[in-house]
Amino acid sequence: MKREIIITSDGSSTIHLPEWDEQYHSKHGAIQEAKHVFIKSGLSLFSNKNISILEIGFGTGLNSFITFLEAPKFNLDINYVGVEAYPVATEEIEKLNYVSELNANNFENTFRQMHQQQWEIKNEITTNFTLTKRKQFFNEINDEHAFDLIYFDAFGARVQPELWTEDVFKLMYNALKDGGVLVTYSAKGSVRRAMLSVGFKVERLPGPPGKREMLRATKL
Ligand SMILES: C[S@@+](CC[C@H](N)C(=O)[O-])C[C@H]1O[C@@H](n2cnc3c(N)ncnc32)[C@H](O)[C@@H]1O
Repeated sequence: MKREIIITSDGSSTIHLPEWDEQYHSKHGAIQEAKHVFIKSGLSLFSNKNISILEIGFGTGLNSFITFLEAPKFNLDINYVGVEAYPVATEEIEKLNYVSELNANNFENTFRQMHQQQWEIKNEITTNFTLTKRKQFFNEINDEHAFDLIYFDAFGARVQPELWTEDVFKLMYNALKDGGVLVTYSAKGSVRRAMLSVGFKVERLPGPPGKREMLRATKL
């Protein structure tokens, strides 16, 4: 499938898939979306503890990198697991402008390391942040009571409806600890109903720029 690097409205880059008319992030701002959906509405619920995060769709590594940068503000030690079946090519990663757009030039090597590290190995990025990248299909996830927070960042239900089903949210529910939280940019009614049907409590929250709402699901 054809792929292009584009610049979103906040100046940060993303990957565009013309055949699907779909992007890895919001066209209204990749960094803004990641900060709003995953950090403000998810990570910021936690402070002063060790937490485990599961990311559904490691992709460009933007969520992982922003989480690494934001973690000290919340005094968190993070065990981060990114699941991805179709890794982004190194040549594409090199064209992304996240390090400069996030004013994170001191951590340029960290972003590179996140991409270069081996799959399936838990890697200590710092004493407060470990990253494991798992090359795996989402429907193969079989963790139980393992995660405090899930970043559900699959391509949209319009292009991959099979990833927004009760079956997949059941796997997410099982993977969370009691009280664990899943956040996603989607606010679709069918997605909300699939979450409710597997037992999540679901909240509609204000969305990032360009989107009225998003969803946050909690395992009670
Ligand atoms: C919206 S993008 C993720 C963006 C990513 N979180 C980031 O910050 O760049 C969705 C990702 O899911 C991956 N993907 C699509 N279908 C998948 C599947 N069935 N199993 C695992 N990964 C899949 C894609 O390769 C893509 O990287």
